[in-house]
Amino acid sequence: MGNNQNIQWYPGHMTKTKRQIQSSLKLIDLVVEILDARVPISSKNPDLNNIIQDKPKLVLLNKCDKASKKGTESWIKYYADNNIVALPVDCKSGRGLNQFAPAVRKILSSKYNSLKEKGIVNPVLRVMIVGIPNVGKSSFINKIGRQIKAKVEDRPGVTRGNQWYTIAKDLEMLDTPGILWPKFDDDRVGQHLAFTGAIKDNILDIELLAVDLLESFRKDTPSEFLSRFKITADILEENDGYELLQIIGKKRGMVISGGEIDTLRASTMLLDEYRNGKFGKITLEFPEDL
Ligand code: G4P
Repeated sequence: MGNNQNIQWYPGHMTKTKRQIQSSLKLIDLVVEILDARVPISSKNPDLNNIIQDKPKLVLLNKCDKASKKGTESWIKYYADNNIVALPVDCKSGRGLNQFAPAVRKILSSKYNSLKEKGIVNPVLRVMIVGIPNVGKSSFINKIGRQIKAKVEDRPGVTRGNQWYTIAKDLEMLDTPGILWPKFDDDRVGQHLAFTGAIKDNILDIELLAVDLLESFRKDTPSEFLSRFKITADILEENDGYELLQIIGKKRGMVISGGEIDTLRASTMLLDEYRNGKFGKITLEFPEDL
């Protein structure tokens, strides 16, 4: 799914995926919403709650290996305050995924018990995954699911064509995730999704993006960034984002004829180093930004 970031969202596309999610809802007991722990606001589709109505939901704050501890903790608390379970996970290494099945069972315990009361000996709870492109849906499915080889279409409530993965004896997952679209109602969303690599740079001005990233560092400075470029707090304070980009470019010897700084090259380098985690674990959005 890694290349889905090229998706261009247009109204017809949104209607189609919305319809797909709505028809899958009939088959499942719980929706798993995957967000990027670094940008839980921008990686969320605010229409999701409307689409899923009263279906129970669990949030996974994925890529928490790249987010700050403080940021992730603040989001878990925010969700807990809103009666939603949010689990920090890293679907690349698998860290945190052992919490998934117990959390689903806990959320759906009354459903499970009512199925038992109805005489179902071994009830199976079913979930589906939703999230915007590149947030880690396939990584999650591959890490946690085992494909069911049985003739799944014979089971009640499961129509032909739907494939299921088993997570545990009592837990199954729809194999096709619901792809949500990001909501670009604010410039910050596009910028933040580009910072994290969820959308391609070439649809945005890369220099503008680098300047914005540096501006955000001026507000919440990663110490790894300062030491990497040997920048002092004073320099950071006295220069705006574009001036900082030039300072960084100069330090890396990115000079073109006439002594001018190659800010395009400096921007590309800055964004690459940021995405490769060279500036440490950074959360770009906090609950207070909501
Ligand atoms: P999608 O289905 O939602 O579109 O996302 P997908 O699983 O394809 O993941 C998108 C990229 O994010 C992949 O990187 C994947 O490895 C990475 N990723 C997913 N979860 C995590 C996580 O928890 N932590 C980190 N650090 N990365 C994660 P890629 O560059 O496309 O592939 P690869 O280089 O990892 O092979």
